[in-house]
Formats: sequence, C-alpha cells, structure tokens
Amino acid sequence: MTVAPHFAFKNNVLHAEDVPLTQLAKEHHTPLYVYSRQALRDAWEAYRVAAEGRNVLVCFGMKANSNLAVINEFKKMGSGFDIVSGGELARVLAVGGDPGKVVFSGVGKQVWEMQAALKAGVKCFNVESEAELDRLSQVAADMGQVAPVSLRVNPDVDAHTHPYISTGLKESKFGIPIERAPQVYQHAASLPSLRIEGLDCHIGSQITEAAPYLDALEKLLDLIDQLASQGITIKHLDLGGGIGIRYTNETPVTPKELLDQVFDRLAARKLGHLQIVLEPGRSLVGNAGVLLTEVQYLKHNEAKNFAVVDAAMNDLLRPTLYEAWHDVEPVQPRAGDKQSYDIVGPICESGDWLARDRQLAVEQGDLLAIMSAGAYAFSMASQYNTRPRPAEIMVDGSEVHVIRPRESVDSLFSSEKPLP
Ligand code: LLP
Repeated sequence: MTVAPHFAFKNNVLHAEDVPLTQLAKEHHTPLYVYSRQALRDAWEAYRVAAEGRNVLVCFGMKANSNLAVINEFKKMGSGFDIVSGGELARVLAVGGDPGKVVFSGVGKQVWEMQAALKAGVKCFNVESEAELDRLSQVAADMGQVAPVSLRVNPDVDAHTHPYISTGLKESKFGIPIERAPQVYQHAASLPSLRIEGLDCHIGSQITEAAPYLDALEKLLDLIDQLASQGITIKHLDLGGGIGIRYTNETPVTPKELLDQVFDRLAARKLGHLQIVLEPGRSLVGNAGVLLTEVQYLKHNEAKNFAVVDAAMNDLLRPTLYEAWHDVEPVQPRAGDKQSYDIVGPICESGDWLARDRQLAVEQGDLLAIMSAGAYAFSMASQYNTRPRPAEIMVDGSEVHVIRPRESVDSLFSSEKPLP
C-alpha cells in the first residue's frame, strides 16, 4: 500500500497510473520527477465539491509546483492562483491564466512586481505591512491606477505544525498583528490609490485539523465587525492555504469538512455574503508526484547501512530542511530480509539525506520512489554541486509527457564568464 492512490503496484512493479516506473527510468533516466494527471484532477475535485453552490474562489498556491503544465491544468479546471513573485505572475500569464483570479501574497513585494501585477490587473494584493501599503499606494498613483488590497493579519493561532512552516504566531515575520489591523485599515482607507477589498490570513502549512482555521476565523470575523463599525466593508475573506496531505498516516481535514464549518460560522454571524478565498498548494499537488531514483551503492559501516542514490538534497530539500518524512517504495520490491537503511545522496554535506532508518531489501541498481514529492519538491530544487535538475514527466493514463526536460550540464554555466 502506498500513500498515493495513483501510484500503485501492478505485477509487483510500481506504476504511475498505467505506466511502469521501470519504463520511465529506462527512457528518461534518474533522478526523475513523475506526476499523475489524474491525481491533480482528483485533488481539484475535492475543492470543487467543497465549493459547489458557495461563493468560493480557489487560488492554487503555485509555489508548491509551478511547472506550466501543472498550472495550466488547474487553470483549465477553473483555478485562480496565489502568487508570491513577479516570476510566478509571469508563469500565470504564460498559460493565459485570468489575472482577475490572482491574489498576490508575500512580505517583500518589489516595485517592479507591484507594477507588473497592477498592469496585469490582479484581483488583490495581500499586504503585509504599513510600509508595503505606502509603497503600493505610491506605485498605483504613479500609474494612475487604484490598487485592490487586503491586509494579511496575523491572528496569533497555533497551527500545530512544523515551526518552519507555521506562520500565524506572534513572533512570525508574516502579517500585521490583528490588534493593529483596525488602525492599518483606517490608514489604507485614507490613501486614494488603494481600494479595500478583503481580509487575509495564512496560518501555516501541513495543517491536519480544522480547529486552527476555526480559531483564526472567529478572530477574523470579529475584526470584520469592528471594521464595519469604522465604515470599512470587507468583500472577501482569504483563509490562505495550509490543508495537509498524507505523507505517512495522517488523515487531514478535507476541503469540504473545512468549508462546511466555515460556512456554518459565516451564517451564524450573518456574514453569508462574504466570498471565501482559499490558497491551497500542497493539498492540490503533494500526492500527485514521486521522485524516482536509482541506488548507486550500498555502504555499510558499524553504525549504519546507507543506500547512496542518485537523487540528493538539491533535488528534494524537504527531508533535511524540515526533517520531513517521505515514504520510500522500492519500485520492484524484493523478497528477502529487510535491513535498516539511510537513503542518502552524493552531495558533500552530512545533511544530504532523503530518508532515515527505513526497513528495505535493496541492491545496487534498484529503483526507489520517494513518495509525496509533488509539492515543494521540484519547486525548491537547486543546482548545488553543479547538478542538473531532474526532468519532470506527467503521466496521463498510458501516455507520457515530458513537461520539463532534464537540464544539461552545459546549460548550468553557459551564461557565466571568466574575467578578461
Ligand atoms: N498562501 C500563502 C500566503 C503561503 O505562504 C503558502 C505557503 C500557501 C498559501 C500554500 O500553503 P499550502 O496549502 O501549500 O500549505 N516548503 C514548505 C512549505 C512552505 C509553505 C509556504 N507557504 C514545505 O515543503 O513543507
């Protein structure tokens, strides 16, 4: 049993939909990212069902996986996008995404990024500080435009997730403290080149329960009441992203379970007219991908057994950065005794590991699939140690599409120049 339903064993070989991973490794080599198109569709379906009959806009948090093929699938299914840079905006425009369904998040927006987003006509800027508000107002005024804004407030709730991906606590760099929000909204209302549209928060990532969202929601609804008494109308409430996925044995809240409770509370507070915006990243793509890698060497020392593979921390940073757990599946499981292995890469860092203490029966040359590698995987990859980034493949039934070829070694330094 694997954690991701579109990656299953048939005749003792792990497949992506109808394609054996052994075939993909042979044709496209390793390390290799392999995605399932149906998994993207199914993940989207969970949000579509949750949003049905309700005023909800789902904006894919595309930092999780920004390949054009991936974002184009979501665009076609009706998704908007949560962007955090001018680069991500350019990707949305490159696939013909509707800027009117784009929200622009992030704590450090630069002038050129604001200009590009205003020119494109994004739905909203999620503003994270007073200094940013002033800059945006100036940039919009210079362009003779009015910028649509939400303030990202920090509701000071604990999302019960890893500290590096928990963003709603007081000590976080993100957002505006909720107590200060009324004053900052008042300031925004006084700036003629801004138009207040909404209220925004994002409390963290890989959240598995509804409770932290509902705690945040209560605080945000109180704030909306307070703002109404100041004459400030909020049209949409953006609850950010954060719904978790199953990496091992988690059973995360579903979009429908969450939205049912959110809409109950909105109704109870007579705020049913609000549009709800969501910015899911991981839950739309995380279990739609695997990282396929080949065992180069087995190495045994007194304390440990190592399987040295051809993927590394530059390809998948999550294990070493967050001590994240990714399931590891042999693509063709062997009979025989299992031993405990650390799965490590070739990079010259002790932190270069992908999984630790896994019970496996493996031999040199075997293929392993690092599971749940559709989110924050390729998008966080680097070329450290002058390693070309892997190819990305999208499987659709029995069809195979190369959605990004493997980088060539030459391309990694072709723009560099020795000094004269
Ligand atoms: N909206 C905002 C403002 C965000 O900062 C994020 C993620 C999202 C939406 C999407 O959150 P999601 O639905 O994916 O949880 N690299 C880390 C995760 C970092 C999340 C950053 N912000 C990881 O690999 O676990």
